[in-house]
Amino acid sequence: MAHRSKAMDDFFANMPNPDAIFQSWWPWIFAFGSGSLYGVRQWLRGPKCTGGNKLHNKVVIVTGASSGIGKEIALNFANRGGKIIMACRDETQGKLAAEDVRKETENMDVYFSKLDLNSFKSIKDFVERFKKKEKRLDILVNNAGVMMCPEGKTEDGFDIQFQTNYLGPFYLTELLLDILKESAPSRIINTTAAAHNLGDIDLEDINFENRDYNAGESYSQSKLAVVAHTFHLAERLKDSKVTCNVISPGICNTNIYRYLPLKQKKFIRISFAPFMWFLMKTAEDGAQLSVYCGTTSEMAEVTGKHFKDCKEEKVNEKANDKLLQEQLYQASLKWTKSAAAAIEGGDDSQTNSSDKKDEDNEKKVTRRKEKVVQSVMERVSLS
Ligand SMILES: NC(=O)c1ccc[n+]([C@@H]2O[C@H](COP(=O)([O-])OP(=O)(O)OC[C@H]3O[C@@H](n4cnc5c(N)ncnc54)[C@H](OP(=O)(O)O)[C@@H]3O)[C@@H](O)[C@H]2O)c1
Repeated sequence: MAHRSKAMDDFFANMPNPDAIFQSWWPWIFAFGSGSLYGVRQWLRGPKCTGGNKLHNKVVIVTGASSGIGKEIALNFANRGGKIIMACRDETQGKLAAEDVRKETENMDVYFSKLDLNSFKSIKDFVERFKKKEKRLDILVNNAGVMMCPEGKTEDGFDIQFQTNYLGPFYLTELLLDILKESAPSRIINTTAAAHNLGDIDLEDINFENRDYNAGESYSQSKLAVVAHTFHLAERLKDSKVTCNVISPGICNTNIYRYLPLKQKKFIRISFAPFMWFLMKTAEDGAQLSVYCGTTSEMAEVTGKHFKDCKEEKVNEKANDKLLQEQLYQASLKWTKSAAAAIEGGDDSQTNSSDKKDEDNEKKVTRRKEKVVQSVMERVSLS
């Protein structure tokens, strides 16, 4: 048998007596410290949505469901038995996420469908596919978003944050309004952020063409637009049994921060990871509000409100400005109308060549253009 070294003997000889430890204040200090930390952590995570109804025979669309909060919303809704369409822009990630949700919830009625909010064409294609397959839509969760990405324009010519966070979801919602109304009572849930409080909407220069680009301003502009539009839409839908609310999920540890140095620089990311874990909500915590708005009976008739931590919260006064709401709505209709017409007609060169080749085709294109313009005009007069 090996003999212990002198150093080891000294170590064991000098070890504090366990009885003495338990007779001291240390166990109490330790218990109080960890209890307090646990309490603070739970408080930071915010309230959980414990109630809510089952979603059997309900059809739900969750945008941006490939990761983060959107995936957690899809998981929760799938657990309640709903048919879930996970609308994601990345096909590989989206399919993997849908597979995860199916496995975890044993609900096989969960599907990926491609949707890139930065492309009006992709939005239109998504809606066409959806309407071909589904007869109803009970809950639309406009969750997808991007935060403080590098400056850039979408293929439709809009600031990326503005289109991803606001204009794309606006167009998607407009195209789905008919089926939402047919399926009423139904619910629309939009997603904003506390940053909307810092926002201003410059309708004359929505794309930062006449001022210096600022990623923070662009983000808060887009999130303020989401709130103003939600209130306007709720008013338009007040006789339709389609509710429309907007939520702020709180600060959650997700990929939304991918463009910030906190997440981009490996050293900073690793050093701050424990603090972020402790101080920020999880994606599951962030999903609670959408679940609350989408599934609880108490929210069945509530519309035109902003929620944070499962209760109504005041918003930036600018979002309540009726004139701004109306101007934003009219501008959004105009922006999406011209994009829709362009999509319907194809680009100029294509139309010109088809002009020469096939007169019938031109007539078809014109008829389709007229239809789009007519449907948009109908919406304007409905509002
Ligand atoms: N996390 C927070 O602290 C926080 C705070 C306030 C508000 N929010 C809001 O909560 C929502 C969810 O964010 P998250 O925290 O869960 O972040 P996330 O993990 O980054 O999720 C965002 C989702 O949106 C998708 N998306 C981005 N651009 C898109 C596009 N052009 N078309 C379709 N989908 C697109 C992303 O897909 P890809 O993976 O393909 O990019 C991803 O699935 C966002 O609207 C965000 O602004 C989050």
